[in-house]
Amino acid sequence: MLTLDINGKTARVDAEPDTPLLWVLRDTLKLTGTKYGCGMALCGACTVHMDGQAVRSCTTPVSAAAGKKIVTIEGVGRGRVGKVVQEAWRRLDVVQCGYCQSGQIMSAVALLEKNPKPSDADIDGAMAGNLCRCATYVRIRAAIHEAAKALA
Ligand code: FES
Ligand code: FES
Repeated sequence: MLTLDINGKTARVDAEPDTPLLWVLRDTLKLTGTKYGCGMALCGACTVHMDGQAVRSCTTPVSAAAGKKIVTIEGVGRGRVGKVVQEAWRRLDVVQCGYCQSGQIMSAVALLEKNPKPSDADIDGAMAGNLCRCATYVRIRAAIHEAAKALA
């Protein structure tokens, strides 16, 4: 049995230590906002925060999450940066099909928590691992700048 801290709540889960965190989030805890894309840390759809770092939950064993603070798209809006980023996303109508967007927002929030005034190059670097088949990259970058302005 593993004890996890997910979005500020304690969850006790019965899982093999090497089970991907994504499986536990989606299948056990029914937190389905975090998406499965590639399962190989290549697309970013499954991005969550672990102690404030953006990590790919598809390749993170659940045992590595024990004792850490995990935040998913369901909880990120409770923080100031997460709330402002989600507002910017809505204002700029970033989303197209939406599949990649939980991961995009999680990576954007992790970036702004560390770097409140990112340049285009900083944004491109931080977001490079988050793919979008609908190619919303220009709006994502604009929304991150907008959120940075609102947070200043
Ligand atoms: S599903 Fe995890 S990076 Fe693609
Ligand atoms: S909005 Fe469709 S994949 Fe990104």
